[in-house]
Amino acid sequence: MCGICACIGNFLCKDFIIDGLKKLEYRGYDSAGISFIDNNALKVIKTVGDIDALSKLAEGVKADAIIGHTRWATHGGVTVENAHPHLSKSGKLAIVHNGVIENYKDLKAQMDVEWKSSTDSEVFVNLIERQKEDCLIRKVISASKKVEGSFAIALLSADGEIVAGRRENPLYIAEVDGGFVATSDLYVLSEKTENYFALENDEFAVLKKSGVEFYDKNGEKIAKKQQKIEKFNKISAKFKNTHMESEIFEAKDVLEKTLDFYLKYGFSTIKIPKNLQEINFIACGTAYHSGLVAAEYFKKIGLPSHTYIASEFRYGNEVLNLNALYVFISQSGETADTIASAKLIKESGCKMLAVTNTQNCFLNQICQNVLPTFAGKEIAVASTKAYLAQVFSLYLFACFLGGRDVKEASDAVSKFEIVDFPDSLTQYALKFKKIIFVGRGLDYITALEASLKLKEISYINSIAIASGELKHGTLALVDNETLVVGILTQQKTREKFLTNLEEVKARGGEILLVSNCIEEGYNCLTLPNCAEDLMPIYSVVPLQIFALKMCKKLGFNPDKPRNLAKSVTVE
Ligand code: AGP
Repeated sequence: MCGICACIGNFLCKDFIIDGLKKLEYRGYDSAGISFIDNNALKVIKTVGDIDALSKLAEGVKADAIIGHTRWATHGGVTVENAHPHLSKSGKLAIVHNGVIENYKDLKAQMDVEWKSSTDSEVFVNLIERQKEDCLIRKVISASKKVEGSFAIALLSADGEIVAGRRENPLYIAEVDGGFVATSDLYVLSEKTENYFALENDEFAVLKKSGVEFYDKNGEKIAKKQQKIEKFNKISAKFKNTHMESEIFEAKDVLEKTLDFYLKYGFSTIKIPKNLQEINFIACGTAYHSGLVAAEYFKKIGLPSHTYIASEFRYGNEVLNLNALYVFISQSGETADTIASAKLIKESGCKMLAVTNTQNCFLNQICQNVLPTFAGKEIAVASTKAYLAQVFSLYLFACFLGGRDVKEASDAVSKFEIVDFPDSLTQYALKFKKIIFVGRGLDYITALEASLKLKEISYINSIAIASGELKHGTLALVDNETLVVGILTQQKTREKFLTNLEEVKARGGEILLVSNCIEEGYNCLTLPNCAEDLMPIYSVVPLQIFALKMCKKLGFNPDKPRNLAKSVTVE
């Protein structure tokens, strides 16, 4: 996904844009750029690399109307030419765009333009320019009817007008320092204003120095209700400046906030099918892992439950059940595959629930039934505190549906403490070329999540496997260059699990055990104890820290891992 920002007014627009793009950088950091008016002509400054690189190039810029963009490449490689903003053929229009225009090739074939990039966004700005309507807002609305796909856009015209609009990807409008701004993410507005307007699908806005006008898809002026921004967590001062480190250490606050909210308000506002027969989870990445844990919780209260990878589900042949609840888990609420799966379920008439960490996200609008998580803004690409919030919220939801008390949950929160991953064990792990995470039951899911964390920020080739599966092939990988990280908190399968570890040792593999029970003969990181069902919350945190420390030892940036973005709004 990308991030867009626009501002108009007599305040320091450039400072707002650069600060805003830095706050948007977690959404994509391949390249960045701005467009502004210089001597009555549109000027574009753009570069591959991060916002600091752009900021240096934009040092002398003084303008009272600017649009800006930070990119995660979808159509077209990471090059300056493909960086936004993109100019129209006449040079009189500039666009910044977050989203994907699916029919851009057909549209492109109808235009006689000397293309400067291979992006869909450049096609979009030329489509807008070619519209016959007499003013920019009507051109934009007319062109939006011809595109298929998603967009959050801001356009700057050579005569200093800014028009913004959205379909699926979020866009927020606000007044800041007497001027007016548009941005992809409320985080940009934090510390700048408390109030904002959220554009709905196919709504548009004209930003002028004198104010903002809102329009619907028919070009009719509309009035919009102002909303209040929730507080954003600052990076804890005691950590240097990585969001990921700060977010990991917010774990206890997140658990306490979640417990307080659901003890106070319960789940009665959540719409549940009368004769609920099953509950299914659909998500991607880390959210998929929290869905796997959640399914175990609902099976334990007697509800059949399945968890699907969204990108598989949407093209699969699942037999839908009108008496099921389909739960879409997404920290951002913008992930394209999860959104697409939710649209499929919506069309089927089945009941839906969104479990999201972002107010006003698109997934909430589609599901119209929301179980919010209270992790606070999660900036680091690697999801940590949001995972805890998802697992814990769904545990409490299962207790509610199953009529179970939450005493164990309260105990787990009160006893929760961050178990650091020792530097000595990190140093030890660095020696190995292969790192395999193993577990059984809930521990296997934790192994999946731990392996994803390690891969995505330290780029170490790591896998996770159910320990009982090792002997069915993967054991062939094991040699003296292999570290097997065993997660053991589920007592039912303890003996079998330890036997699997012996199979590894017998083949020269090294073992590191992460467990709440003391096991002789292993390098062991000991966890505090809580109810077995909630041990995934205790065991995952030191493994998040393990990934973070490995990443830093290898000299990478945990907040901006290569090739990735915080939420993948493309398929
Ligand atoms: C997790 O660390 C990754 N950043 C990624 O797997 C993420 O969980 C996935 O893209 C889903 O994002 P979402 O929760 O915003 O839908």
